[in-house]
Amino acid sequence: MSLPPFKIKVVEPVKVRTREERLEQARRAGFNLFHIPAEYVYVDLLTDSGTSAMSASQWSAMMHGDEAYVIPTHQGRAAEHLLFSVLVKPGDIVPSNTHFDTTRANIEVAGGEAVDLAIDEALDLHSDHPFKGNIDVEKVENLIERKGKENIPLSMLTLTNNTGGGQPVSMENLARLHALLFRHGIPLFIDACRFAENAYFVREREGAHSGRSILDITADTFALADGCTMSAKKDGLVNIGGFLALHEGDLARRIKERLVLYEGFETYGGLAGRDLEAVAVGLEEVVDIHYLAHRIEQVAYLGEGLRRAGVPVLVPFGGHAVYVDAASFLPHIPREHFPGQALSVALYLDSGIRTVEIGGVMFGKTDRETGEVVFPKLELVRFAVPRRVYMREHLDFAIESVVELYRRRDSVTGYEFEYQADVLRHFTARFRPVGAGSKSQVSPV
Ligand code: F0G
Repeated sequence: MSLPPFKIKVVEPVKVRTREERLEQARRAGFNLFHIPAEYVYVDLLTDSGTSAMSASQWSAMMHGDEAYVIPTHQGRAAEHLLFSVLVKPGDIVPSNTHFDTTRANIEVAGGEAVDLAIDEALDLHSDHPFKGNIDVEKVENLIERKGKENIPLSMLTLTNNTGGGQPVSMENLARLHALLFRHGIPLFIDACRFAENAYFVREREGAHSGRSILDITADTFALADGCTMSAKKDGLVNIGGFLALHEGDLARRIKERLVLYEGFETYGGLAGRDLEAVAVGLEEVVDIHYLAHRIEQVAYLGEGLRRAGVPVLVPFGGHAVYVDAASFLPHIPREHFPGQALSVALYLDSGIRTVEIGGVMFGKTDRETGEVVFPKLELVRFAVPRRVYMREHLDFAIESVVELYRRRDSVTGYEFEYQADVLRHFTARFRPVGAGSKSQVSPV
């Protein structure tokens, strides 16, 4: 196992709370873990986004911030909004391996349709395909033939594929997609949130790139794209920040006009100059092979610990998170009662570990007229590991807690909605345990 290439300079004390305290907080939060105050969480695996520990160099860079030459935004979704509001018009289609939820929502708000075209293995929990994040290039080709290239203003590609399990995309796949799109004159934009983790997997798993530097692989990656959206809250190793980078001058000009309207002047977006300095240093630190080896192995350590104990997990393990298959973990809970939500709440109540449901709550759609629910294929719970934050003891505690819950999984019960919004409902929904009161309602209460 790789040793941590850092030592600790600043610590944040955390309290261990009682089960009663957690239950009280969960009730107040409508059993939605997004609304639990952080001081009531012991190990926070909700997200790897904006949760990295910054380095001494990043903090010191914040003291002499100045200009930037890409289009800075306050975070990733602002870059998405700017890009799609300029490029996407009603009826347009935007393919990707898998769109992240904010990406999808921003395309839909612009009137477009976000289409996920990952390879079939992406939805197979047990396939050991080394690049399960790959896009199915033939499906993209069919889409272009069926819908016409004039209705496809751009294609996205998410590195690594967060929603599909933090799985990497191979250089070979990227090159094939690029060649196809280039032939049809369709621009390719990379959702680059976890580009360095993707490059690490390429180096480890793709023969032709074995032993190359992360920086070289990264340079080759972006050379094949027309631009990228970036949430620097992931592989930028900062707590806030993002950007949009692109080659085409005219498009950049149109986007900058919107930037001034929504984010701020083009030299700082919605950020302060010092935030941009921290991003710049973070981008240098993240391509360090020792950092990446430790990071990816830390995630695999968590995954391996769960797998060894028989907990159903998605394999291979992702770059930033381990995904537990909640449907197999809690087979007695029907999809309508959200096994992923049930698992994440039970784990929080048991041990103060916060995770996030990626299943029926996040991606299911309720038809307001009929009340009928369409579920996504997979029902997962994501254990995202913040960068440079937790020690092995924390991960061991997480493993033990999940294994203990797995032993008594029969006692876990499901949830139903008390309130749900139309867009990105997982952030604001309120739930009640099934059997605890009146029937589920579709409309807000
Ligand atoms: N794209 C991907 C692949 C993401 O994972 C995220 C955020 C975004 C875009 C949006 O970036 O949050 O800076 O606006 N993912 C976080 C997560 C929220 O927990 O996975 P943002």
